[in-house]
Amino acid sequence: MSQLVSTLVAEHVHIQRVLTALHDFAAFHAHDDADVRGAIGQFVTYLRKFVDGWHHHKEEDLLFDALERGPLPRDTGPLACMYADHDAGRQHVGMLAALAAASGPLDEEELAVLRRTVMGYVRLLSGHIVKEDDVLYPMAERLLPGRDLDALDEAAAAVDDANAAEGQRLRALGDELIARYAAARVGRDPAPEVSTRTPSPR
Ligand SMILES: [Fe+2]
Repeated sequence: MSQLVSTLVAEHVHIQRVLTALHDFAAFHAHDDADVRGAIGQFVTYLRKFVDGWHHHKEEDLLFDALERGPLPRDTGPLACMYADHDAGRQHVGMLAALAAASGPLDEEELAVLRRTVMGYVRLLSGHIVKEDDVLYPMAERLLPGRDLDALDEAAAAVDDANAAEGQRLRALGDELIARYAAARVGRDPAPEVSTRTPSPR
């Protein structure tokens, strides 16, 4: 696996954990969170700056760009689908940002908008991540010549190194949201124990 692809896959793992926290925040915490708009604003910061600014930036400006200049068209097929998912995600995050920017507790209608938007966003981005991990990234590694993949690795490492402190800050914000919202549900509602014993043959 190329260094860029393995970095993107690792970022997906972090993003998916924050998506779990976002889901649980909307489903179980938002209705009685004393600073609900502040919490929505923290999720928006992570989604705009890490998911979009940090992660999608590397995809669109490096990996997708190399594919467009080479074997894949931008306007149709897998790349068109990935760009459409990114744009749809930005629209969802814009709706969350509007909720964060207003003041006072959420009314019933705003709570319903929050839940609908979050569920749609989590479904969209989770499906998008599976499409990239299982289809687009393996396709990129198959289609792009080794020298292009090496050049992409170097360019991505340079971008990440130049913004290392910001990346660390955003990951820490994601970790804080996971600990506050996703872990809280795990503590309250533990997963059922799964037997590790090998079933005896009949
Ligand atoms: Fe991605």
